[in-house]
Amino acid sequence: MTSGPAKPIGVLVSGRGSNLQALIDAAAAAQLGAIIATVISNVDGAFALERARRAGITTTVIDHRGWPSRDDFDRALVQELQRHQVDFVCLAGFMRKVGRPLLDAYPSAILNIHPSLLPSFPGLHPQRQALEHGVKVSGVTVHVVTEELDAGPIILQRAVPVLDDDTEETLAARILQEEHLAYPAAVRMFVGGGLVEGRRWVAAREP
Ligand code: GRF
Repeated sequence: MTSGPAKPIGVLVSGRGSNLQALIDAAAAAQLGAIIATVISNVDGAFALERARRAGITTTVIDHRGWPSRDDFDRALVQELQRHQVDFVCLAGFMRKVGRPLLDAYPSAILNIHPSLLPSFPGLHPQRQALEHGVKVSGVTVHVVTEELDAGPIILQRAVPVLDDDTEETLAARILQEEHLAYPAAVRMFVGGGLVEGRRWVAAREP
């Protein structure tokens, strides 16, 4: 476990929220090193919001379509995150590209989870990309968010086999099981402290 008080984090979501649930469950078991202070969705009606409400977490909908530019949308996210005084931000199935205002407000403090072993298969449909490429191993990556999509320093990866008879759905389900282990573990490591050295994220040594 990390030492010190649990850090307030914000989670950005767009969909079903199973990774959010994994974070909620880890926080409830005092295994996250963090408290989920707020959950923000750009999609009204996302099931992730329901999961947050059930856990008693404040939720907000900020619809990206309601803003004249991406930067304006980003600034609205920052304002809401700062209102809840969060130290870190986790993207958990958040389907918008993060822009400058959010990156500047939370430098090296935003994490994302992506269902492939990056740098292979960034962007959309990574499981389909993995199958089409014919790789025998895929998995999940938790990384620090930078301006380039799915390219920031890697915190943690977990691998799964790709089977001959896999479909996009069966591979996605196998990876998702690992995602639910990887994200809480990565958050715990990250809030415990570390350094970005070039492309690498290195955990702080225990004193
Ligand atoms: C996950 O596969 C995550 O890695 C990707 O989007 C999906 C979100 O799923 N970024 P959920 O909303 O957490 O269930």
